[in-house]
Amino acid sequence: MVTRSETSVGNWKLKRNIYISFFLFLVLGIIIYLYQNQREIPIEQVFPGKIWAKPIENLPNLKGVGAPTAKNCGSCHTEIYEEWTRSTHANALSDIQFQSELAKPSSPKWICLNCHIPVQNQRETIITGLKNGDYFRPVEIPNPNFNPEMKTEGVTCATCHVRVDSETNESYVIGALGGTSPPHPIKIDRKQLLNRCNDCHNETYTLNESLVCSFQTGTELRATNSNQSCSSCHQKEVLRSLVKPSLHKPIRKSHKHGFIGGGVPKTFDLYPDQIRLGYQPGIVLTDLKVENNRIEVLLTNTKADHHVTTGDPERFYRLVLVGLDQKGKEIFKTETKIGQEWAWSPVAKKVSDQRIPSGKSFVWKVEQKYSELPIVSYQFKAVHVRLKDITSDYMIQSSGYLSSPYKEKVEKMKDLYPHSSVVIESSYQIKTKSRKDTPLEDLFKRNALRKGE
Ligand code: HEC
Ligand code: HEC
Ligand code: HEC
Ligand code: HEC
Ligand code: HEC
Repeated sequence: MVTRSETSVGNWKLKRNIYISFFLFLVLGIIIYLYQNQREIPIEQVFPGKIWAKPIENLPNLKGVGAPTAKNCGSCHTEIYEEWTRSTHANALSDIQFQSELAKPSSPKWICLNCHIPVQNQRETIITGLKNGDYFRPVEIPNPNFNPEMKTEGVTCATCHVRVDSETNESYVIGALGGTSPPHPIKIDRKQLLNRCNDCHNETYTLNESLVCSFQTGTELRATNSNQSCSSCHQKEVLRSLVKPSLHKPIRKSHKHGFIGGGVPKTFDLYPDQIRLGYQPGIVLTDLKVENNRIEVLLTNTKADHHVTTGDPERFYRLVLVGLDQKGKEIFKTETKIGQEWAWSPVAKKVSDQRIPSGKSFVWKVEQKYSELPIVSYQFKAVHVRLKDITSDYMIQSSGYLSSPYKEKVEKMKDLYPHSSVVIESSYQIKTKSRKDTPLEDLFKRNALRKGE
């Protein structure tokens, strides 16, 4: 016989058990969640096969050289070092635009640094993994081999030239020529050196909706069936000793190390080095025709075995045509663009692509409808734009994310940072039907004084 009170005791026990089980499940759930959320996933597992996902391992001191810094290499390889210090590579960390973008909370900083300061010795910390595989939560430990001087060197010599021998654990230099007598260990592998460019300049990867990496220069080059390498054009050949004269080494085939690209350097004082270190526009003004009120501009990509423009999707060419009167006053003006158009928010995507593939031409037809205008000559200009005015405006507005000295630099970036360069300028006289091109040297003298887009 069951009394009423016994039933309620039974009920109570049942309820209590349910509560306890529920509580235990909750605790277990929290533990599993915390474990999952905190567990460290190896980088290789999150980004399989991606070379840029990890820096080059810590490089021990190089026999005969010491720390593998560019400055040390430069104590013997004086000319190559001097050229490299003027390259975009050497400025890949100090670049004001890079610092501004790096500081944004939306940047996974360690990934950016893997291509802009790519050697582990350049980094304060070693990343051992990612919490729950989340690239915004790297697990970092201090790097005992951190070299602060090397950090400032951006894409330093060792990026391409120094590796660790897996058997001896010693650093060695990768060379291209052979038959030289260096004081440091060397392995000759020219192919490896030449292919290295693709690791950073040929990557398309969508990290998230608004962070997309889109560099296809290597693929563009392969599509042309050209037998040139990136270095054929960006490291022009020169005969010289590889080292300073006091070492009495023979004259050999060497290569300039200025890595000149689109002719818009990272600081104004680098303008005088652009042509010396090998700059030339990729496009050539093959024809400028004027018939009555119809103007036709023909541009051909004859100098680059990849698209113009290539690399960063924000780069473009602005083409400007101006009509001048007797007194040289501007009375007609029109513009167009060659480049890619991207929308960055809410989702990054390419909207259009007007670039000129290698060997191809771009025809710009203009109809000047105001036949009564007393135009006596036309002037055509091609401007390589690396950074738009509205983008640098935005960077100045968001300079709060930065700290000194980059904060102050970004605030003054309109004066400090080249945004664009005029790389072709040509005048056409209607009466004589004659064309005159401004020499590249003159344009670059003016570029050094030009501000903005
Ligand atoms: C103490 C002087 C010295 C230092 C420091 C030095 N090198 Fe050299 N290096 C030489 C000499 C000498 C040669 C041989 C030149 C020759 O025989 O024509 C050479 C040759 C080379 C070669 C060409 C080898 C080939 O056959 O293609 C490369 C590449 C090179 N060094 C890279 C570096 C790098 C990178 C560093 C810094 C990590 C560096 N060197 C530091 C003296 C030096
Ligand atoms: C896969 C390698 C790689 C990674 C990762 C990478 N970059 Fe770069 N970055 C490059 C290369 C290559 C260029 C040069 C392209 C050019 O000049 O057109 C470049 C150029 C730039 C420039 C200069 C653009 C210009 O037109 O001058 C900025 C700014 C920049 N990167 C920011 C970043 C930031 C911020 C990140 C991280 C979110 C990042 N990069 C991650 C390879 C990389
Ligand atoms: C570890 C990554 C990395 C490797 C390897 C690399 N680059 Fe770069 N390169 C960069 C980055 C990053 C920039 C842009 C830095 C910036 O704008 O702040 C750059 C810029 C350049 C530019 C300058 C573009 C301009 O208009 O200023 C040229 C040209 C270039 N690289 C050519 C090469 C060539 C040729 C090779 C191979 C021999 C090579 N790079 C290998 C990362 C790399
Ligand atoms: C972005 C990659 C890259 C960087 C950074 C770089 N080099 Fe090179 N270097 C090369 C390539 C590629 C070659 C071979 C070019 C060829 O044979 O066509 C080369 C060749 C050389 C040679 C052989 C002789 C010659 O001129 O061809 C020496 C010496 C040399 N580099 C030294 C240096 C030093 C010193 C630094 C830093 C100040 C440096 N390199 C930075 C890619 C690089
Ligand atoms: C046949 C010569 C040639 C070869 C090969 C070549 N380039 Fe270029 N590259 C140029 C010229 C010329 C320019 C200048 C284009 C311009 O802005 O008018 C340029 C510009 C660039 C720029 C700056 C972006 C721009 O649009 O101006 C980068 C970055 C670059 N090249 C990287 C590379 C890489 C990486 C390779 C190899 C995969 C390579 N180039 C192969 C000639 C060449």
